[in-house]
Amino acid sequence: MKLVVIGGTGLIGSKVVQLLWAEGHEVVAASPASGVNTLTGEGLEEALAGASVVVDLTNSPSFEDAAVLHFFQTSGRNLLSAEAIAGVKHHVVLSVVGTDRMLESGYFRAKFAQENLVKASDVSYTIIRATQFYEFAGGIAKASARGETIHLSPVHLQPIASNDIARAVAEVATGHPVNGTIEVAGPERIGLDELVRRYLRANHDPREVVTDPGARYFGALLREGSLTPAGTAKICTTKFDEWLERSQFTEKAFRGRSDGALTDARDLRRSRGSAGPDLRFQAREFPRIA
Ligand SMILES: NC(=O)c1ccc[n+]([C@@H]2O[C@H](COP(=O)([O-])OP(=O)(O)OC[C@H]3O[C@@H](n4cnc5c(N)ncnc54)[C@H](OP(=O)(O)O)[C@@H]3O)[C@@H](O)[C@H]2O)c1
Repeated sequence: MKLVVIGGTGLIGSKVVQLLWAEGHEVVAASPASGVNTLTGEGLEEALAGASVVVDLTNSPSFEDAAVLHFFQTSGRNLLSAEAIAGVKHHVVLSVVGTDRMLESGYFRAKFAQENLVKASDVSYTIIRATQFYEFAGGIAKASARGETIHLSPVHLQPIASNDIARAVAEVATGHPVNGTIEVAGPERIGLDELVRRYLRANHDPREVVTDPGARYFGALLREGSLTPAGTAKICTTKFDEWLERSQFTEKAFRGRSDGALTDARDLRRSRGSAGPDLRFQAREFPRIA
């Protein structure tokens, strides 16, 4: 089975590519660096030839309202029409838990538009909504900084390690389309302010996090429940403190983000032929929410 991972050089994409490869699948990592551009359509026909599954793990280089909407709409349209022509059987896309509850935000309007294009297309699909990646805590701090302080709402989220979400995406990609939306989250609920506070402390970053219920998250006013998944979400196991410890502080996690994936792939290859981890899709673990 040939699988094409669009955005295969990204944080999640590179890990998914390696997991699928370690499982023995034919997998193509597609991105502008390999001559595949979903915005222009360049290289799509060639990359998708003979593919059964396409996993869309792209992200917009700009989060500015108009740019991000243009990115996800244009990329989504180009990709889905190329998939229909190529006879792709399963389109998998990674979105964000609570996307439809944060439409004040330009980023989430764009992700919602991306989801809706997928739902309206003729290609069978699975939309995976994930919670915030631990690796994204620094990005949240950056987006919420006002001078030397960081203003964040105390609402809860249930963040997840990128390795865990990559495994979930790989499982879904090798399973049957749900033609709906499933959710995947980490094991613990934590306040958004507290997550970033702990992240900064671990990185010896002296900046203060100010708890502010009115602080917006990428433009959206948050309420309790905005960022948390439904009770039916698949819950992954890596805790935030374990991740901080394993990545020996987040700066290193960023620098060596493919190191983490390579470790996974090596572990998987080592265990192939023995019992090995079972990455096959298990429908009962992923009840659809829509
Ligand atoms: N951050 C979070 O906490 C979070 C939570 C839930 C869901 N998500 C979703 O997860 C997805 C993946 O996020 P990520 O952090 O893994 O992204 P990322 O590391 O920023 O990677 C983005 C990928 O998209 C590729 N790309 C950019 N422009 C492209 C184009 N025109 N054509 C083809 N590929 C293009 C990039 O290629 P280059 O390497 O060549 O630039 C890269 O491979 C996003 O859609 C995001 O909304 C994120």
